[in-house]
Amino acid sequence: MKVLVWTSLFVIFSIYTYLVYSQCDQKDPTATQPDTAAIAGFNTWQQKNCQTCHQLYGLGGYMGPDLTNIASDPVKNEAYIRAFITTGTAKMPNFHLKDAEINNIIAFLRWVDKSGRNIVPKEKVTLSGNYNLDH
Ligand code: HEC
Repeated sequence: MKVLVWTSLFVIFSIYTYLVYSQCDQKDPTATQPDTAAIAGFNTWQQKNCQTCHQLYGLGGYMGPDLTNIASDPVKNEAYIRAFITTGTAKMPNFHLKDAEINNIIAFLRWVDKSGRNIVPKEKVTLSGNYNLDH
């Protein structure tokens, strides 16, 4: 009896393991690899710690807005993104980035945008100027 139980468990484990490993390798055919500009933009994003104030897919700091889908925002176009990065604001530092670095960050944000949609809760600017998320 014991042998039968152990054999059954082993068979179930083997089938389950096979399924997990054979399924997890499936690639999303629509997913694109980042090009060199996007990778360079990601490096600048990391070096300048944009993530401490901004979120991608809701993860990061909450002082500034989520930037996951800013690249396809119908109102905030490339010039808008460029303006923020070039001048900074009262709350966002001006990092004095070179044009090429800004282009790369925009390439990175475009790549992130194509990776999916992030449904961000309605944002609200408080009197202190910070963003609060209405849950
Ligand atoms: C110290 C916090 C902080 C850091 C670091 C920061 N930002 Fe910001 N950013 C903000 C805030 C806050 C705003 C919203 C505008 C405001 O309130 O002044 C903003 C706005 C923006 C916007 C416009 C977003 C929109 O939806 O209107 C973009 C684009 C942006 N930041 C990009 C960047 C990039 C790229 C970096 C890194 C190089 C960066 N930020 C680093 C705080 C920051």
